[in-house]
Amino acid sequence: MTYYETTRTPGRHFLQIPGPTNVPDRVLRAMDNTTMDHRGPEFGHLGARILANLRKVFQTEGPVVIYPASGTGAWEAALVNTLSPGDTVLMCRTGWFASLWKEMAERLGLVPVLIDTDWRHGADVPAIAEALNKDKAHTIKAVCVVHNETSTGCTSRVDEIRAAIDASMHPALLLVDTISSLASIDYRHDAWGVDVTVAGSQKGLMLPPGLSFNAMSAKALAAADNAKLPRSYWDWRPMLAANETGYFPYTPGTNLLYGLDAAVAMLLEEGLANVFSRHDRHAEATRRAVRGWGLEIQCAEPRHYSSSLTAVRVPDGHSADALRATILAKFNMSLGNGLGPLKDRVFRIGHLGDFGDLQLVGTLGGIEMGLRAAGIPHCGGGLQAAVDYLAGNA
Ligand SMILES: Cc1ncc(COP(=O)(O)O)c(C=O)c1O
Repeated sequence: MTYYETTRTPGRHFLQIPGPTNVPDRVLRAMDNTTMDHRGPEFGHLGARILANLRKVFQTEGPVVIYPASGTGAWEAALVNTLSPGDTVLMCRTGWFASLWKEMAERLGLVPVLIDTDWRHGADVPAIAEALNKDKAHTIKAVCVVHNETSTGCTSRVDEIRAAIDASMHPALLLVDTISSLASIDYRHDAWGVDVTVAGSQKGLMLPPGLSFNAMSAKALAAADNAKLPRSYWDWRPMLAANETGYFPYTPGTNLLYGLDAAVAMLLEEGLANVFSRHDRHAEATRRAVRGWGLEIQCAEPRHYSSSLTAVRVPDGHSADALRATILAKFNMSLGNGLGPLKDRVFRIGHLGDFGDLQLVGTLGGIEMGLRAAGIPHCGGGLQAAVDYLAGNA
C-alpha cells in the first residue's frame, strides 16, 4: 500500500518540519496546469517575469539562476562556479547542514578550514576575523556560512561577517546558504555584500522541493571566469545566456515554475517586511511556549534565535523521537527530528512559509498534548503563553 492509502487520520496533516513546508492552495492551483513548451513563445514571458521578481526576494539587482534540483545542487553550483582545485575555504561548522556542505567541498577537491561552534550559536564572527587577519597570503578564497542552520535553529549574522571581511581587507568571496531563511528571515544579498547566495524552493518560498537558486555578485561572476573546478550542468554561463530572454539551457521544472511565479507574487503582495515580521512574531510566540513548558531552546544566544524554526531539547533520559512518533500517531503532525549529535535529543518546530496564527496555535497545542501523552516532564501553560502573546500582538 502507498502512504496515502494507509493515512486514515481525519483532518489536515500538520507538516511542521522546518521544510518542506505547507504549500498554499494558490500555488498548488498554479502548478495544476498543462505543461507548456519550454522553448515556445509563451515560456519566455513567464521565465523573464519570474527571474525579475526573484531578484526582489533576494534583495539584489544582480542575476538569480534557477536549477531543477534540491538545495544541495545549488551548494555545488556555488562552489564549482567560483573556486579551483586545492583552494582553501573557510567554513563555519554551525550544525548538520554546514557539516554536509563542508563534506561536499572536500569531495570536490577544496580544502576546508573549519570554524566550529557548539551547535548552540551562529557563526563565530571574531574567529572568522582572526582567521582572515592571519591569512596575509590570501590563501583563503571563500568564506562559507549557513545563514539559518536548520538543524539547530541558530541564525548567523551575515552583516557582521561581511563587516569582518571588510575590516580585514581580505579578498575572499562570501558564500551564504539561505535554504531555510530566504523569504522568512530578512536577508539582503546586495546590502550585505554577499557573493553567492544559495537557496531552495521548499521552505520560505512555499513550493514543493525541486528548485534551487544561486544569486551572484559581479565579483562572483568575475571569479567564474577563472574558476577551474569541473562544471557542466551547474555552469552559470550558459544559464545566464539563456536567461537573458527568459529561457533555460535545458528543460526547466516547468510546473514548479508556475508555482514559483504564484509564490513570489504572494510574497510581494504581502510585502517582504510583513513576511519577516510575521515570522519573527511566530518565532517569539513559539519560544514563549517552550519556556512555559519549562523546556530548553537549543539556540543559547538570543541574538541568534531563528525566526523560521525552533529546536527544543528534551530532558535527559527522554526521547525526542518517541515524542515525535506519539504526536504523529495521535495528532497527525510531523515535527523535525534531531540530526547528527542532536539525534533523539531535540525536536524541531517549523514555523515558516505559508503559516498563520491559528496554525501556530494548533501546532503548539499538538505539542503540549504530545508532551503529556509521551510522559515528558513539563509544565502546563506553554500554549497559553503563546496565545497571550499572539492575542496581545495581533
Ligand atoms: C540550511 C540547509 N542547507 C542545505 C540543505 C540541503 O538542501 P536539500 O535537502 O534541498 O538538498 C538543507 C535542507 O534542509 C538546509 O536546511
